[in-house]
Amino acid sequence: MPSSLTLVPGLQKAPPRDLALPMKLVARPRPGYATGKPKLMVCVNERAAADGTSCAPRGGCGIHAEVLTALEKEPLDVEVAAVRCLGTCDRGPSLRLAPNNSWFYGAHVTDVPAIMEQLRTAANEYRDWLVRQPRQA
Ligand code: FES
Repeated sequence: MPSSLTLVPGLQKAPPRDLALPMKLVARPRPGYATGKPKLMVCVNERAAADGTSCAPRGGCGIHAEVLTALEKEPLDVEVAAVRCLGTCDRGPSLRLAPNNSWFYGAHVTDVPAIMEQLRTAANEYRDWLVRQPRQA
């Protein structure tokens, strides 16, 4: 077994996403196999070693709080959860919308209206799915 490991150059850890960049949204429609209510997962992870690659010090908690405030003003049939790491730390603050598998990378509090727009669409897709379900006798 080698005494030290070296990373393959192309696989080295990427630097944290520049927070000055606009949020990157990867939006996907609700998949046909989905059955559950839309759920937004907001990463609020804070690592002990504050190397800047976890989402809380980059604004994740503020985004989570702002989304909850927006949903108080405009209730939608969605769930919101604060989660510990979505595995995309270098691109955070990260959010994932299930079951669509839509992603928000490098989000800011000012992106909450755009996040709400995606939640609105997901809630409408879920309502349409519910309407199409056969009635139970
Ligand atoms: S710390 Fe947020 S995705 Fe890992």
